[in-house]
Amino acid sequence: MVIIIYTNITGEYKMKKALLLSILASGVLFAQEYIQPDRMKNMQEMEAAMSVIQKGFLFDNVNVVKNGVKDLKERVKHTESFIKAGVNKEGFNTLVYAQKQAKDITALADDILATFEKGDRYGAANGYLRVLSKCLTCHQTIRSW
Ligand code: HEC
Repeated sequence: MVIIIYTNITGEYKMKKALLLSILASGVLFAQEYIQPDRMKNMQEMEAAMSVIQKGFLFDNVNVVKNGVKDLKERVKHTESFIKAGVNKEGFNTLVYAQKQAKDITALADDILATFEKGDRYGAANGYLRVLSKCLTCHQTIRSW
């Protein structure tokens, strides 16, 4: 750490500016830490959202399905945030892939609710399975599970 003592007015101003900048910079770092969702937590919350959707089916309760779909859509937005951009061993860009999965899952989630609201429970259950397959495909692709 370097401490500079300025004697003139402009010097003092410069020092204050530097101090302010460093405070801002650490604030930005903090903010990033804060906004960056914990990936395991995010995944577990998606798993919980999927369980809620399934409960909604089994209890035949549209509001429960609605809540699960809402949660799932909220969480899936963050999945790509922890995937580093880069080309994997299969030769494709994992970040672009993750963003595409998030978009597809969001559309499928909307579809689950719309189908269930129409009274087509099997159709909704099929939509659920399609989401589940997306989850599994990403796991296999990103982590080779
Ligand atoms: C874009 C890729 C991607 C998608 C889509 C995805 N996951 Fe994951 N998931 C991961 C990765 C990567 C990990 C491992 C995280 C790690 O090891 O840090 C993981 C781990 C998990 C875990 C294990 C967490 C733990 O604590 O061990 C669960 C549960 C999970 N995901 C649920 C889901 C569900 C449910 C969906 C679909 C709704 C889903 N995931 C969709 C990439 C994805």
